[in-house]
Amino acid sequence: AGSNASCGDVLRALEEIAGEIAKCEKCPLSRSRTHTVPGEGNPCSGVVFIGEAPGRNEDLQGRPFVGAAGALLTELISLAGLSREEVFITNVVKCRPPNNREPREEEIAACLPYLLAQLRAIKPRLIVTLGKHSTKTILRMRGMSVDSIMSVRGKAYTVNAEWGQVTVFPTLHPAAALYNPAMRKVLEEDFRFLRGLLEGGGQR
Ligand code: URA
Repeated sequence: AGSNASCGDVLRALEEIAGEIAKCEKCPLSRSRTHTVPGEGNPCSGVVFIGEAPGRNEDLQGRPFVGAAGALLTELISLAGLSREEVFITNVVKCRPPNNREPREEEIAACLPYLLAQLRAIKPRLIVTLGKHSTKTILRMRGMSVDSIMSVRGKAYTVNAEWGQVTVFPTLHPAAALYNPAMRKVLEEDFRFLRGLLEGGGQR
């Protein structure tokens, strides 16, 4: 599919990738999962949100961000002037880590080809990274090493991807706000800023 691929082509490519993910046994997370969680939403908006890894609800349903963090993400997406249905939502790791522990470096590395294949199919103009794992993974494409999410959040970075320039906007993981109202304020501030970015066509 070239840069003029219709959305139908993008959807078909994503379905094919989801089929590969469903069969994946590249890391031990495949042995404890109930369902793989490839991601969902509208890839044709050119806006992609990337979280960390499926939790319990996501593992049971095979869908990303369907628990408490997901409800907050859905609200935050509206603050940015978008709706959940019009963006594509996925995770760095497509299978649930046991007891919701953080994904390990080697699990992220094993799963990365799937995320990259999804991004190559979608060719997003904007990628919002939620939390340190997705932020590190995506900003690494720009040769940036990320020490702390707080030092990079709320700012837009331009990344030269294979398919063109992409705006990368790191913010906190919504789960950080579930028990910490101060973090919720930070997330709300970032998503309001994101609204401005989108109104400016994603350029700065
Ligand atoms: N947290 C994530 O990072 N991803 C999900 O899909 C759900 C919770």
